[in-house]
Amino acid sequence: MKFSFVNPTQIHFGQGQIARIADAIPADRKVLLLYGGGSIKTNGVYEQVVSALAEHQWQEFAGGEPNPTVETLDKAVAQVKDSGLDYILAVGGGSVIDGAKYVAAAALYDGEGWDILLGKHRVNQALPIGAVLTLPATGSESNGGSVITKKATRDKLNFMSPAVQPGFAVLDPDVMKTLPERQLANGLVDAWVHTCEQYLTLPTEAMVQEGYAEALLRTLKTLGEQYAERDADSWRANLMLAANQALNGFIGSGVPQDWATHMIGHELTALYGVDHGRSLAIVQPSLLRHQIAVKRDKLEQMARNVFDLADSEDLAERCIDAIEHFYHSLGVATQLTEHGADKAAAIDAIVAQLEAHGMVKLGENRAITPKESREILEQAVA
Ligand code: NZQ
Ligand code: ZN
Repeated sequence: MKFSFVNPTQIHFGQGQIARIADAIPADRKVLLLYGGGSIKTNGVYEQVVSALAEHQWQEFAGGEPNPTVETLDKAVAQVKDSGLDYILAVGGGSVIDGAKYVAAAALYDGEGWDILLGKHRVNQALPIGAVLTLPATGSESNGGSVITKKATRDKLNFMSPAVQPGFAVLDPDVMKTLPERQLANGLVDAWVHTCEQYLTLPTEAMVQEGYAEALLRTLKTLGEQYAERDADSWRANLMLAANQALNGFIGSGVPQDWATHMIGHELTALYGVDHGRSLAIVQPSLLRHQIAVKRDKLEQMARNVFDLADSEDLAERCIDAIEHFYHSLGVATQLTEHGADKAAAIDAIVAQLEAHGMVKLGENRAITPKESREILEQAVA
């Protein structure tokens, strides 16, 4: 266990905290307010942000889509460059915040922005970013990761850089009141799988990271069981904080990480438009069953410490069943149906994209090659 850890994002948590933007962004910054398809205009978030920016110079860019595309974001990059803007304020879910990270980095780069996703340009500098989170799920509000899609080629790729980590993030659970059920469930599943990607690997001796991951999983499981109470302030606040902590870097520090479910899931989103959270629920149960031999110890630990299951020979198998049941209880499917009727063609297409993107040695043991991905997809595709 050896690591360096810092999370420099200041979190302003709780009701009414959007007003904090006024002081959190230096007064002399010229701000680009970046948002998505307009949900922030239906729930009072836009008005609160505008009121907090009263003393700032600012412009806006609307229309960032879910699974943000480079085609759209490059227009925001042009606006930033043309108007000499020097601060990006993202107001939205993971897509808007990821988009802001791309814009902040591409604005200081003279080449093609897509180079960043191809790894041809390494991001060492970016404009400063602040975030107002409206959908708890990705943890993007306080990490340095970003996932961007190129619509033309259906490539969905990610980049990471400390330079694009937001300086502050407002987490006001009241903004969740207008979230569609579908997005609420997606958020629960995404946070859950983020925790699993950093926990369901090999046994370690890292009691703090494992114990904290289990606390997050128990919290998310309880929120799922209490789904009928999702209009309670405490329910919303607990989901918002759990999703944030699941991917702020700490539970993954110094321990093995998997992320194969995410990499395969990204291809399902890029090819078939499956929501990010749902893509994970489709891949993960099949991946865990395929990888059960190497993950057995951790699955048994999760069965005992998260699901309170009694010991048995098939404890790991029952843990995977319990995970799958958790998704079903939220109305989230665990098999791909969006591809239509031709299962073989779908699997070929997904595996080809994984190969094209260099996703050929996935998982904590780098043992999931295209052959294993294909076997996993055999069970995951309906
Ligand atoms: O665009 P608007 O109109 O705002 O509507 C959004 C969007 O349609 C809506 N929404 C958000 N907040 C709302 C709301 N509707 C009503 N009330 C609110 N308060 O929800 C829809 C989905 O939003 P989106 O931002 O796409 O969802 P999410 O937060 O799940 O983000 C998904 C994206 O994040 C990436 C995913 O790949 C995907 O592109 N990820 C980013 C990660 C990171 N940076 O660390 C890690 C994740 O694993 C993930 O890959
Ligand atoms: Zn995710």
